[in-house]
Amino acid sequence: TAMTILIIACAYLVGSVSSAIIVCRLFGKDDPRTQGSHNPGATNVLRIAGKLPAALVLVFDILKGTVSVWGAYFLGLNPIELGLVAVAVCLGHIFPVFFGFSGGKAVATAFGALLPIGLDLSLMLIVIWLIVLFCSGYSSLAAVITVSLAPFITWFVKAAYALPVAMLAVLIIVRHKDNLIRLVKGQEPKIRQKYS
Ligand code: G3P
Repeated sequence: TAMTILIIACAYLVGSVSSAIIVCRLFGKDDPRTQGSHNPGATNVLRIAGKLPAALVLVFDILKGTVSVWGAYFLGLNPIELGLVAVAVCLGHIFPVFFGFSGGKAVATAFGALLPIGLDLSLMLIVIWLIVLFCSGYSSLAAVITVSLAPFITWFVKAAYALPVAMLAVLIIVRHKDNLIRLVKGQEPKIRQKYS
């Protein structure tokens, strides 16, 4: 329906608010797309601007996903439509209309979009992410492994959402292409390591 299309369009606009770029500006730092990994996301803001700005970016980017999907749920959208809302908010984050279509990798935003599926799924994903991060030290590897497992875990928790979660996983993994190449070459910096 027209309302569904309007809600999906709104989700894309919400996703397009790149908090990493805005927070860096507020803290007097340069655009995160010009430094470190060049990614406007919490990990790169941690490298460039430190813990508080990174935490703000993480929370705001998660909220973009959660608010969009929860809002759509309360407006009566069905599971397939909610999946499209989740994809739209992540596409906004990745290709933000307000910032020249050059955005982030949508890890935090996708996590926020999955939160309404259930606390059990969310907690499992956080635990997997933390385990990989602590064992390897790589934020990107933690994200790629977690999103790769997410569709399978979703299948067991709430099968109706497994397909949209798989779509988000593909988007996120494709966005990590450069990280994956660096990981294979042994050139990926660990989470608190500066880029050389
Ligand atoms: O959330 C993005 C993270 O997985 C990788 O970030 O800045 O190291 O490319 P970055």
